[in-house]
Amino acid sequence: MKELLEKIWQSALAAIESGNDAESLRIRFLGKKGELTAVLRGMGALSPEERPKMGQLVNEMREKIENAIAEKAAKEKEEALKNKLLSEKIDVTLPGNDLSVGHRHPIAETEKMMRDIFIGMGFSVVEGPEVEYDYYNFEALNLPKNHPARDTQDTFYITDNILLRSQTSPVQVRAMENSKPPIRIISPGRVYRADPADATHSPIFHQCEGLVVDKGITMGDLKGVLELFAKKMFGEDTRIRFRPHHFPFTEPSAEVDVSCWECGGKGCRLCKGEGWIEILGAGMVHPFVLSNCGIDPNVYSGFAFGMGIERVALCRFGIDDLRLLYENDVRFLEQF
Ligand code: PHE
Repeated sequence: MKELLEKIWQSALAAIESGNDAESLRIRFLGKKGELTAVLRGMGALSPEERPKMGQLVNEMREKIENAIAEKAAKEKEEALKNKLLSEKIDVTLPGNDLSVGHRHPIAETEKMMRDIFIGMGFSVVEGPEVEYDYYNFEALNLPKNHPARDTQDTFYITDNILLRSQTSPVQVRAMENSKPPIRIISPGRVYRADPADATHSPIFHQCEGLVVDKGITMGDLKGVLELFAKKMFGEDTRIRFRPHHFPFTEPSAEVDVSCWECGGKGCRLCKGEGWIEILGAGMVHPFVLSNCGIDPNVYSGFAFGMGIERVALCRFGIDDLRLLYENDVRFLEQF
């Protein structure tokens, strides 16, 4: 029996050593079905003199094992705490997690630059509806039904008289109807045309239109405003050039080029060897348009200009396909 107790003690030590957890050790050696309890049960077979001696031995062994297990449990607890402290340690000197910060889309960025430049010159920003009456988009702008110039601005019709605006110029008309000169506005916004999408066309794009109406406004004012805009937008050395053109709503009309900011006008790949890049249409507001909007052309005059925001964005950021701007592939957009 003594040997049996010794054997139990040895196997308890080995079990404790080999890392069994305290709870399962307690069950294995001291539990109701444990090894020591089995010894106690076997004591019935002993003689009455031997029984108390053995009982004492068993109790001593129980105490020894209990102590060893308790020690083991204490060690386990300490270890767990140490690990917890280690794993939950906060090093306040470590740099924080990087939050990735987004930025404006190239179109929004370009539009904002335009807004800022014109606001700086005293313009206010006015917006108008994208679903527009034929009257505001065409008729009031001196483009009566069947006018051939409507062809270049074919758009999407909702009814015969309601369409998706093909230009931001209808905002001019609304502004003139709703306010008295002096008027000094820009109207950035989305426009639509029935053009299939390719590298330079999109059925939806953005324009920024400008309008100034007051007494004594001349083409000189138009030139001055556009020159300042071009310098702010494309760099201080930028020059502008007016080429005669035709728009039904302005007279005279011009297409406006800026000197190439890449080569300074010498001719390069960006300007296709021209030295100039066309960016906008402009002119003096046609007297018919003024009177259509209730402004007396004998008293007031004005100028207007309009440009495509995408066109400027493509040139500025050196992007060669318009469609890239609408695909919203973050890998592309992140570059700007
Ligand atoms: N609205 C014209 C276009 O879309 C541009 C323009 C605006 C031209 C104002 C002259 C004056 O082509």
